[in-house]
Amino acid sequence: MNELDTLVEAARSAFAAAKTPAELENAKAQFLGKTGSITALMKGMAALSVEQKKSQGAAINLVKQGIEAALAERRQQLADVELDLQLRAEALDVSLPGRKRVPGGLHPVSRTMERIEAIFSSMGFDVADGPEIESDWHSFTSLNNPPNHPARSMQDTFYVDIEGEDGTPYNLRPHTSPMQVRYAHQHIKKHAAAFEAAAADSSGTLKAPEIRVIAPGRTYRVDSDATHSPMFHQCEGLWLGENVSFKDLKVVFTDFCRTFFETDDLVLRFRPSFFPFTEPSAEIDIQFQSGPLADRWLEVAGSGQVHPKVVRNMGLDPERYIGFAFGMGPDRLTMLRYGVNDLRLFFDGDLRFLSQFQ
Ligand code: DAH
Repeated sequence: MNELDTLVEAARSAFAAAKTPAELENAKAQFLGKTGSITALMKGMAALSVEQKKSQGAAINLVKQGIEAALAERRQQLADVELDLQLRAEALDVSLPGRKRVPGGLHPVSRTMERIEAIFSSMGFDVADGPEIESDWHSFTSLNNPPNHPARSMQDTFYVDIEGEDGTPYNLRPHTSPMQVRYAHQHIKKHAAAFEAAAADSSGTLKAPEIRVIAPGRTYRVDSDATHSPMFHQCEGLWLGENVSFKDLKVVFTDFCRTFFETDDLVLRFRPSFFPFTEPSAEIDIQFQSGPLADRWLEVAGSGQVHPKVVRNMGLDPERYIGFAFGMGPDRLTMLRYGVNDLRLFFDGDLRFLSQFQ
């Protein structure tokens, strides 16, 4: 094999060693570039005779064509490899299982809230919403619980370091009871003409609109164990009119409990108690007559006849307006309804627990 023949072989193996297009261009320069072997051979022809130039020129051209063919072949190979890699990177595996969409659902306490709202709505109660960051006046003072009164220690309140719009400090409301006065003010303002007309009617035949409302929502206390959470729920109830009595409270609340728990096999007990905003006051206990909870008295709400001072703070005349209020714990009702014994489970956000209620 002469020098020219070995050159094609050398180029072929140099091209094969190039792993990228850039390396291939470098290898090409060694043979076909300005200082490459072929160029050097061409230059060497200057010293030859015309005859020699003819045959040597033809031979060099053949070699050059061989090297160019090897180069084109290797370029194509590298381009194929690159295309292949790209296709592989972009490949879609259509046999992979899809991402599951887990259907959402209502939290068990939200279900209870909706149930409470539906039942009281059917009895003609309005449903009201109010602020969770509440002024001291609404949370306590308006409810006949003045500053420094010992009854304030019944609730371990979270205080906020900001003054509310009425000049008293804010707190995270420890109960939904401030909604009694808040809602009464809104309601009286909305029906101002009717309230004024009733007040001006000395014969007493013109009745002012009643206030009949429930206010469900989140409440907060410095408290945490199996039956207390720093955030919990309450639902306030208020029915105020010219002739609303404790008897009405008994009827309404008994009806509510029987509908809520879907059984008539349930009795209520009104146990005397104390709350600053009611007089007289009572805890409401229920007792199932059958089933797993039978024969135990279970406390479900606080209640009472709205205190005259609270009625006055609503802007109404306590000689004329009378009624009842109650406050219950939807979390506890949910625990009783579903047989859950640790309140914290509701607020841990564990889907294995929560999805059981769907
Ligand atoms: N606010 C009371 C509490 O959180 C519950 C309560 C008791 C509400 C009696 C009332 C009521 O409206 O009349 O313990």
